[in-house]
Amino acid sequence: MVGLSHVVLRLLIKEYLPSGATTFWPTEMLNSRRVPSERLDLTPETRRSPSENHLVPQILGNEPEPIRLSVERLIEWGAVGVDINMGCPVRKALQHNYGVALMGDAAYAAAVVKMASAGSLCPVGVKLRAGLQNDLSYLLGFIDGLVASGARWVTLHPRTAEMKRRGRADWSQIASVVSRFDIPVIGNGDVQVAADVTEMIRETGCSGVMVGRALTARPWMVWQVGEDLGWKAPEGREGERAPRSPVEEGQECGRALLRYIELMGQAYGDLTESLRLRKARFHIKTMAPWLAFGHELFSRSTRVDSLSELQEMVGSFFNQPQEMIPRTELRQ
Ligand SMILES: Cc1cc2nc3c(=O)[nH]c(=O)nc-3n(C[C@H](O)[C@H](O)[C@H](O)COP(=O)(O)O)c2cc1C
Repeated sequence: MVGLSHVVLRLLIKEYLPSGATTFWPTEMLNSRRVPSERLDLTPETRRSPSENHLVPQILGNEPEPIRLSVERLIEWGAVGVDINMGCPVRKALQHNYGVALMGDAAYAAAVVKMASAGSLCPVGVKLRAGLQNDLSYLLGFIDGLVASGARWVTLHPRTAEMKRRGRADWSQIASVVSRFDIPVIGNGDVQVAADVTEMIRETGCSGVMVGRALTARPWMVWQVGEDLGWKAPEGREGERAPRSPVEEGQECGRALLRYIELMGQAYGDLTESLRLRKARFHIKTMAPWLAFGHELFSRSTRVDSLSELQEMVGSFFNQPQEMIPRTELRQ
């Protein structure tokens, strides 16, 4: 997620992974016109920690040479696969005919998969939406083309471009894609609590679940899911149970946010204070709906001038017991 799924959030979630568990990690969307000339590891979007593995960066693009070069460079950088964005609905992406615009041209979208798969350098997948219209048979035909061109998995966010990220995601479309294709299908959309993960798998048969916004608020969801499956606690939390009640989650939320700020200081030590604050505020804005007084937390975050002031403010905010809300209207 642009502005959110950077190294800091990934490292925070990683600390909550059940001991011994692994998962695949996305990046923010990376523009294939820029990746070939960027100093990877240095830009905020491509920064990674040496401790990170199983990275599957996401690229945006529609031209052969930039895509080929981006894939090559991202493999050197440590990618184990590359994801192509065919879901971004923002105007700029539509103007450049990438993101969800590619879903309007099935043949060209299939060609983009071919561009990224050229030379079979790494597995290539595609992140999709329900499409421009909510037309399931079009979606299935569209994926046919992607698979024929070498897509090794698809991730489906079953909302239309028009819905952006609001309204209910239609999980039945994930089930339809699963029943039609042999490749792994990753389900996405509206997963807010651990039970939603198991529910999505049960309801759709998907091979994996991608969680977006809720992981900013509840990064320990991976611990809760692991615990439900009988897996170990995260390293350093042995003998503890995952937080579950609204108050336990509220307490963990404070702890996680303080850790986020600490990691921000470490991973982005060279960025300006204002850029680091901007990133942290966007994170807080995204997580706020799951916190009973999240709007107040966000509003206070706009009145601090440094990460250390933010840290102090967050510490005192969570000195009062705070409660988390399981599900909320997703509006961002
Ligand atoms: C701020 C923001 C930025 C996003 N950027 C991307 C992106 O770059 N690439 C992408 O595939 N999806 C992006 N998404 C969409 C999410 O990946 C996800 O599909 C969507 O939020 C639905 O999942 P959720 O309900 O679990 O959040 C973004 C979402 C948000 C909130």
